[in-house]
Amino acid sequence: MYLLKAVVFLVYNLLIRFLPHSQASSLDCTPRKTVNYEDANLKTFTKQGISNYSTLLLSEEHSLLFVGARDAIFALNIDNVSESVSQETWAVPDKKKNECMYKGKSRETDCRNYIRILHRLTETRMYICGTNAFQPTCDYMVINNRKIQLEKSPEEAKGKCPFDPTQRYASIMVDGEFYSATANNFLGSEPILLRSLKNNLRTEYKTSWLNEPNFVHLDVVQESEDTDDGDDDKIYLFFSETAVEFEFYNKLVVSRIARVCKGDLGGQRTLQRKWTTFLKASLMCSTPELHFPFNIIQDVFVLRTSNWSDNIFYAVFTPQWGQQDISAVCAFSMAKIQEVFNEGKYKSSVTVEQSRIKWVMYSGTVPVPRPGTCINSNSRKLGFMTSLDLPDRTLQFVKDHPLMDDVVTPINNRPKLIKQGIKYTQITVDRVTAANQKEYDVIFLGTDRGYLHKALSLEREMFIIEEVQMFLTAEPVQSLQLSPKRGQLYIGSPSQVVQVPVAVCAQYINCWDCVRARDPYCAWDKTTSQCVSISKNTNVLNLVQNIENGDPSECPSHENDKTEIRTIIPGNNMVLNCYSTSNLAHMQWLLNRRLILAEDSKYLYFNDGLLIFNVSIADEGQYDCQSVETVAGKPFAQVTASYLLQLSGTGQHPIPTKALPSAESGISIVPTSPGNTVRMANLPMTQNYLQTEFTLKGLLVLFVMMFIFLLAWNVYKGHVPMPLRPSRSEDRMTRITQTSLLNTSVQQLEEKSPLATDPPLQDALTVVDLPLTSLSSASSLEKNSNNNSIPLENANSSCARPLFVLDDLEYIDSDQLESKA
Ligand SMILES: *[C@@H]1O[C@H](CO)[C@@H](O)[C@H](O)[C@H]1NC(C)=O
Ligand SMILES: *[C@@H]1O[C@H](CO)[C@@H](O)[C@H](O)[C@H]1NC(C)=O
Ligand SMILES: *[C@@H]1O[C@H](CO)[C@@H](O)[C@H](O)[C@H]1NC(C)=O
Repeated sequence: MYLLKAVVFLVYNLLIRFLPHSQASSLDCTPRKTVNYEDANLKTFTKQGISNYSTLLLSEEHSLLFVGARDAIFALNIDNVSESVSQETWAVPDKKKNECMYKGKSRETDCRNYIRILHRLTETRMYICGTNAFQPTCDYMVINNRKIQLEKSPEEAKGKCPFDPTQRYASIMVDGEFYSATANNFLGSEPILLRSLKNNLRTEYKTSWLNEPNFVHLDVVQESEDTDDGDDDKIYLFFSETAVEFEFYNKLVVSRIARVCKGDLGGQRTLQRKWTTFLKASLMCSTPELHFPFNIIQDVFVLRTSNWSDNIFYAVFTPQWGQQDISAVCAFSMAKIQEVFNEGKYKSSVTVEQSRIKWVMYSGTVPVPRPGTCINSNSRKLGFMTSLDLPDRTLQFVKDHPLMDDVVTPINNRPKLIKQGIKYTQITVDRVTAANQKEYDVIFLGTDRGYLHKALSLEREMFIIEEVQMFLTAEPVQSLQLSPKRGQLYIGSPSQVVQVPVAVCAQYINCWDCVRARDPYCAWDKTTSQCVSISKNTNVLNLVQNIENGDPSECPSHENDKTEIRTIIPGNNMVLNCYSTSNLAHMQWLLNRRLILAEDSKYLYFNDGLLIFNVSIADEGQYDCQSVETVAGKPFAQVTASYLLQLSGTGQHPIPTKALPSAESGISIVPTSPGNTVRMANLPMTQNYLQTEFTLKGLLVLFVMMFIFLLAWNVYKGHVPMPLRPSRSEDRMTRITQTSLLNTSVQQLEEKSPLATDPPLQDALTVVDLPLTSLSSASSLEKNSNNNSIPLENANSSCARPLFVLDDLEYIDSDQLESKA
């Protein structure tokens, strides 16, 4: 069976390299540019023997980036993280390590001190906590003349910092009070939302409050500012947990937003030293037609605006089911969140059939003051000055009804982005003023394999401007911090800290490229003919930029007016190069302004150009390479390379003994002797394929027929599963798979690795090593090639377009049931 699959994929892989690439265009969800590690303009920091650089804290006031790693804390230069300004060690003594080991933990991994909490208290003092061999401990750290030093007055930190370094947690410092959401015990079984340092307050230990939660983020919104109702600031907690309110054969995870009031002091008798304002609601990132829940929240970023009621909560979600990686980005408005908590209905539990509990909408009378609201002008008027004054009825209600019946739905009632083949782990957002003085949200997303995606968020559309490879080997992005002031991003990961600028405008090589990128940070400067960073450029009048639809028509015309003159050597094959600057573009060749059809056997379209077989005097003429790119649903074409082919004089043409790659023009000629053997010397990788092509030319037809037969046979036998749409026609399936494979090959060709001499075979074989699980035959290929998107089958589809319909979910469910059985 595996041999058969190997053959199928081998043929696939060979075949797709000789297909025209036109189908690989208009994949809206594909990042427009892929920036490889070597080109990524990165600054990195790592120290020998130290790992797990997962906690980051930016300090603009000291121009430092504080990094909490394993057994160590660093203060790095914020402008160049490669430069360590000072460091502190905070390791676990051997005695403690042994104690930890006796409790059944691994001495070398678990029983270390993973720094998890780093918060600013004052300009010169910080609060810092670590897991400390499953005995979480906090300390203070002073900053003196940019040097950091622990005060070495450690205190026990149960409920403030996780015991287990692999467990997720959240924390925030607000007005000298420390809020933490983590496990309160060694086993990790008792979750808690704790306020400490001044007025300690905690959650009730009840499954209706927190049920096996995974804490993701804590944040504060200053809702006391500019209000008429004397409202309080609120602390928002984001997490996922096992749902109590749904009955399901399996544990169903739901994402939640919970909030407490900053001024909460607990109750007098009921809820003594517990939150009297803890309310939570479900966060939905799905659409009615989608029926595919992105139910696990991974990270949140609160985009603050001058008026807090315009804040936007951006969040990343992944689904609970399916082996396949897929992520969604949703945005939630402050108004919706307030509406749900301030006006929404509560859920209430009722006991049915002896012991079973069912959660339903509460329809009885709600006590006054309304349970869970902060002390505001209204409650003060009624004589309730603090939460200690609240009546038992209100407190008992809140204790029993922490969950709202209403759900917090996303802006536009749908995800802003759905991305297949990717698991996003971190999100941060920058609001950028573009050349037209309008503001745009640029979303940065870190993946579990070490990529950074930069996406433009528009009202009804999201566009991935680029993906940047930040590590040589795949590792997850564990922390993502942005300095809008410096235009830098800071990434924490298991092996190192990485610094990357928000934009590298110089990578856009001409006006078309610069404008079509739709990068709000960059615009084309007509005076200097460069793609420049907007913040550094004051004269907006000379700038060309079009964020809304990437229309390059304002660009100076005739950007490419250089025509290369090439001499025809009759009987030879000829390569005309043409390089794409975008993953979304495809090439068209024109001969004397007439389109050369990809089906024409005289020519071969390949990724970086055109091959003309057996040139003769009849092939004289003007050859133009046109890059066609669909941006915001509109195709634009631009000539990116032009050649004039002509026969020079008469007589013997000297046959070059070497290929002639011309670095400047990107032109090279592949000379062939009459015997059709190709001399290969210092040829770029793509031409290796061409050689393969020559030798396989005769076999190609055979391969095609073999392939079609094998595929048909496999589909008939059910060996090749239908990707994504199990119940659809096989014709469609073939098309989707082919397009995604095509896309893979485009990207592979673009990775111009000089070492990879014969990638087609290698790729085909590594692919076969992967288990071909039911849902991911296409996606495992994708992952293997670091290309992380499956194209949608419709050219005009948007990133937020639903990809799954109900029957897919049922498919997944029944799959799971089968494996359980
Ligand atoms: C950043 O710091 C490193 C280490 O000190 C140094 O080698 C590098 O040149 C610096 N880079 C820049 C751009 O200053
Ligand atoms: C903030 O925005 C809200 C709703 O958009 C508005 O009612 C309020 O007046 C604004 N506040 C200020 C201070 O502008
Ligand atoms: C620490 O880093 C190592 C790799 O350096 C990684 O395998 C491990 O999962 C990390 N542990 C945590 C708790 O992040």
